[in-house]
Amino acid sequence: MTILARLDALADPGAIVVEYEDGAGVRRSLILTRAGDHVAAFRNVCPHAGYPLQRADGRIVVQEARYLVCMAHGASFTLTDGACAGGPCNGDGLERVGIEVAQGMILLR
Ligand code: FES
Repeated sequence: MTILARLDALADPGAIVVEYEDGAGVRRSLILTRAGDHVAAFRNVCPHAGYPLQRADGRIVVQEARYLVCMAHGASFTLTDGACAGGPCNGDGLERVGIEVAQGMILLR
């Protein structure tokens, strides 16, 4: 299994961008989110126009402790399940990636 991050690297609520190398040696970017005991991972690709969601400084904007906001054109997504919550995502959510949390680490499934 691939270790993505330490659980305590994530604010509560919060979101971070992490990268890992897949089995074919391709760099992949994921968004990890946390809200209480709920931890989730999504591909860092906005369904609107395919951009990554973070700001130029690498940070992900979390609004009202509940929404991720894409910095390209302002689409917002729920922190816990990546569903479109407003803006130009037009009903399309983020693609979820399977993870698990064990011994304080977030692992790619
Ligand atoms: S690419 Fe995310 S809102 Fe346009």
